Amino acid sequence: MNPSDVVIESVLNRIYNDGRGHDARQTEQSQKFLNITPSTGRFLELLIEEQRPRRILEIGTSNGYSTLWLARAGLACNAQVDSVDHNARKHELAAENLLSCQLSGDVRLHTMEAGEFLKQAPPGHWDFIFLDSDRSQYAAWWTDIQKLWGGGVIVCNNAVSDASELQPFLTKIDADPSLERTVLTIGNGQLLIRRRPQTDFSQNMVNGLPLITPGMP
Ligand SMILES: C[S@@+](CC[C@H](N)C(=O)[O-])C[C@H]1O[C@@H](n2cnc3c(N)ncnc32)[C@H](O)[C@@H]1O
Repeated sequence: MNPSDVVIESVLNRIYNDGRGHDARQTEQSQKFLNITPSTGRFLELLIEEQRPRRILEIGTSNGYSTLWLARAGLACNAQVDSVDHNARKHELAAENLLSCQLSGDVRLHTMEAGEFLKQAPPGHWDFIFLDSDRSQYAAWWTDIQKLWGGGVIVCNNAVSDASELQPFLTKIDADPSLERTVLTIGNGQLLIRRRPQTDFSQNMVNGLPLITPGMP
């Protein structure tokens, strides 16, 4: 671990532990931090290190716990992170947390309604998307998300803990034969969505690359 990793690790531990205490005391749901679990953070980090996206979009920053995981992983592949939340106070805390890890320069915080952000976002811009926000809106946001999704995976938190809330969203995904999805039981459950690889058996090609077949040298 290099010195900056030691700092980030200790900030991550502090935010997570303080956040759990804060959420236990806080009665107003909208003021809770509701951070992802550390295992989810590590999963996102591994996925980003493997996929090497160029631009990462997070919907639902809160106080920046998940954003720190995304930003640290993004460093390895020089990825820019954009994160959206409509709660200005939480974004102030996120900005402080990113600053304490010297990761502010790699993250743009957009303090606004996610629906508005998605409508005006550049098409095909992001190649890694993490959804951790108002689950009841995902189905309504889907058309706009698809426009700004330039490839790679979409990860959606709470696929096990709040599966029924995600049902309208899943129905939309399942209606599109060009997509595939799976759920991993990490943290509160992670839904992964990707575009199905385009296989052209007549040309022995997958996504424009030669299909590997038995007996092939
Ligand atoms: C579960 S929390 C995000 C937790 C964060 N990803 C983490 O792990 O640290 C959900 C966040 O979505 C934000 N949110 C909810 N509805 C929103 C909306 N319509 N537009 C923008 N942000 C929204 C809330 O303010 C809240 O901070």
